[in-house]
Amino acid sequence: MSKPAQIELSAAEAAAEEINAYMAEQEKKSLLRFLTCGSVDDGKSTLIGRLLYDTKLIFEDQLAALTNDSRKHGTNGEDIDFALLVDGLEAEREQGITIDVAYRFFSTPKRKFIVADTPGHEQYTRNMATGASTADLAIVLVDARQGVLQQTRRHSFIASLLGIRNIVLAVNKIDLVDYSEEIFDRIVEEYQAFAGKLGFNSIQSIPLSARYGDNVIGASDKLPWYKGPSLLEHLETVPLDRTAEERPFRFPVQFVNRPNLDFRGFAGTIASGSVAPGDEVVVAKSGKTSRVKRIVTWDGDLDRAGEGEAVTIVLEDEVEVSRGNMLVAPGARPEVADQFAAHLVWFAEHALIPGRSYILRTETDQVTATITDLKHRIDINSFAEVAAKSLDLNEVGVCNISTQEPIAFDSYKSNRSTGSFILIDRLTNATVGAGMIDFALRRASNVHWQALDVDKASRAALKDQKPAVLWFTGLSGSGKSTVANLVEKRLSSLGKHTYILDGDNVRHGLNRDLGFTEEDRVENIRRVGEVAKLMVDAGLIVLVSFISPFRSERRMARELLGDGEFMEIFVDTPFEECARRDPKGLYAKALRGEIKNFTGVDSPYEAPENPELHLKTVGRTTEELASEVENLLAERGIIFNYDQSSWSI
Ligand code: ADX
Repeated sequence: MSKPAQIELSAAEAAAEEINAYMAEQEKKSLLRFLTCGSVDDGKSTLIGRLLYDTKLIFEDQLAALTNDSRKHGTNGEDIDFALLVDGLEAEREQGITIDVAYRFFSTPKRKFIVADTPGHEQYTRNMATGASTADLAIVLVDARQGVLQQTRRHSFIASLLGIRNIVLAVNKIDLVDYSEEIFDRIVEEYQAFAGKLGFNSIQSIPLSARYGDNVIGASDKLPWYKGPSLLEHLETVPLDRTAEERPFRFPVQFVNRPNLDFRGFAGTIASGSVAPGDEVVVAKSGKTSRVKRIVTWDGDLDRAGEGEAVTIVLEDEVEVSRGNMLVAPGARPEVADQFAAHLVWFAEHALIPGRSYILRTETDQVTATITDLKHRIDINSFAEVAAKSLDLNEVGVCNISTQEPIAFDSYKSNRSTGSFILIDRLTNATVGAGMIDFALRRASNVHWQALDVDKASRAALKDQKPAVLWFTGLSGSGKSTVANLVEKRLSSLGKHTYILDGDNVRHGLNRDLGFTEEDRVENIRRVGEVAKLMVDAGLIVLVSFISPFRSERRMARELLGDGEFMEIFVDTPFEECARRDPKGLYAKALRGEIKNFTGVDSPYEAPENPELHLKTVGRTTEELASEVENLLAERGIIFNYDQSSWSI
């Protein structure tokens, strides 16, 4: 039988009161965000599990499940395997590694904690960077038997780049080296010699055993020589550098909330500073000003809102604030620029290539961007600046970046959330890098677009034609230039104004400085794309005949041009056939290993997926192939339909 409704209500009320009291108490406590980093077997998950377990934060039922799981998967016999507690997903357990960032919340009477548990597998630096961007402290785990590893250095360096100011060097598994003070001292000395240069506010070294709990919560009698705090004691007392409240107001707008005609608010999370109704604010990109009318939340309007709060701001005037823009304090505006210098951490297997276009995403904005100049790579052992043409997996570099449209940002030093971005590969959608903005490049903002009276339309009208790019792509020797040459002859005879940009020819002049590495080919196509665009602007029909082996750059060229102006023509001749024809004798040389990076041999060709025209050349004459191109041009209204049989060229 169910209880009377009234009793249930008062029980619920009592519970609510208890919760409120608890919440009020929690709110007064300071919050420490930290993350753990280390190599796969250093015991990160075990350490977090131990922290949670010993601070009594595991619920009974979870504990029972854990005991079962430990028998099934664990590595500790009948003991509870703490790693299982935080490793979470079944799939991950089976792989034996943690693969994503997991945030966990716990609290002690002194402080609240949020821990980002990041995997230590070599290629997972990315997850660390994701988890670290808001952290106050990093626990760098080292296996006492192994000491400081390459990865320890990398993680510490990235932690410093990401603005983390406090480090705990946790020398774990000290039980496995007989609690040796000498080994601990040696590791600390080696770490200090390296990390001392990284500008941390504090580095606290602690010998511990996550498995047995030595020095995790309280002091251990097995380590009488160690006089410092236990891990938890340190986490509870390390001073926090909280200058956020003093920083200027930044409100990246996530979306415009307009449920009906009477309400229009801007929703987002305050990145720094605070705001109150009546405050003047500026729209970062347009410079328009207004005043805050209301700060709306689910629980009613606020008199003031500060960092980290998710609110909807209603302004007094109808100003335009699109997604990706920011509302900011009028006295301290962010930069608005389309070129800037940044530190970049590269996460992808596939190297970073200057000149290639990526998607750059800030907290709210998303634009197309290219690395215009890679200034240097930073050696993580010596911090030396090393000349580099690309960045490989896990490497860190300093570069200039140019975006297609201006973005609003601060330097990472002054604001970690409005100063950071990620780069996304345009084809795979994978996050390939994380960046920290150093400063805007002024030179860009002083070069303005010159408006001219004679424009593309008038130039094209004078030539009585519709300008376009015919982009021939295919292997060397596939017949691109032969077909393009015949098409140009025919267009010319129709009175069309044309130009052929041919790989071999352009490489003798404009692109004579470029070879055939991936980076050089990307730059080769970038330049030709830009030249083709200028020629279209001049009103010409441009025939581009380049191998152009990468989808990414063909797509970039396509995007430089207007709708319908770009036609990709895949000259599809199988490798064996090209090698058989070998008009320049290059295939023979490449197959003998005398030419490096030869397309189709030791450099890839990425065939078009959706070309406007797919020319299969085997068994066809050049005339037939050229006619197919002309049909496409007729369809597109670039030439008129004609009777092909009357042509005699
Ligand atoms: S692309 O890949 O960067 O687009 P592009 O079309 O400019 O190449 O140049 C290709 C021409 O350069 C080929 O037709 C061939 O004559 C010559 N060549 C010389 N070395 C190579 C190489 N390693 N790979 C491909 N082509 C080469």
